[in-house]
Amino acid sequence: MQTEQSEIDQSNPETLSNSARVKSDAVSAELYTRRKPRKHRSEMQLVEQAFGSLPEDGVETVLDAPCGVGRLCVWLAQHGYRVTGVDLGESAVKLSQDALRQRGLPGQVEIHNIMAMDYADRQFDCTVCFRLLHHFEKPEEKNRLIGELCRVSARFVVISYFSPMSVTALRRRLRRRVSGRPLKQYPDSLAALEQYFTQHGFRLYGEVKRSKILHSLQLAIFERTS
Ligand SMILES: C[S@@+](CC[C@H](N)C(=O)[O-])C[C@H]1O[C@@H](n2cnc3c(N)ncnc32)[C@H](O)[C@@H]1O
Repeated sequence: MQTEQSEIDQSNPETLSNSARVKSDAVSAELYTRRKPRKHRSEMQLVEQAFGSLPEDGVETVLDAPCGVGRLCVWLAQHGYRVTGVDLGESAVKLSQDALRQRGLPGQVEIHNIMAMDYADRQFDCTVCFRLLHHFEKPEEKNRLIGELCRVSARFVVISYFSPMSVTALRRRLRRRVSGRPLKQYPDSLAALEQYFTQHGFRLYGEVKRSKILHSLQLAIFERTS
């Protein structure tokens, strides 16, 4: 995958470690605004179910990281959360700001590298990381990302991941074996995810129930224990 070089801090090795696999350029951001409506709706239903499972008290501030073009920011602001969105891409940040502003919704959107954010420890009640983890291949990258999401969250982390048992994951593994082409998505079991989160003082709070065989995209919620 290619990423527009002007939007990347070339001097920062942490930025470079993952941006080669996740697109942050203007064209990709624009394309993301035209995501298939059915897919978009089903993904937003997952988000709705995850947030619906959080306790009613005490979750006010939410960090949407990465926010992409702002679809979760919009949903969160519409549902009364005080939302901050962050993304590496300038275009994504601008589109997210526009998405909120055009709907008259409050919220802040900033450029940040999610691997090393400037926010204070436990600054937000909850962080949400949707459709990013599966782009990371190395366990140390996954751990770094999860550690940073946990660090800035006082209570919950909502995170999507790809099921290794899904039909799609199986098909991709077979294709790689036959064609030799490298994988672009890296699934994790829920148990593997729990191991990462345990290291950062979090435990599994719940998950959105859906078949791990039929659906690649899964959503889990972790809560702080210490
Ligand atoms: C697949 S999109 C998902 C965006 C959003 N969560 C959604 O579901 O609409 C991935 C986003 O991650 C951003 N991204 C990739 N690496 C990042 C990093 N290190 N820090 C912040 N954002 C990053 C990209 O710019 C892109 O907008």
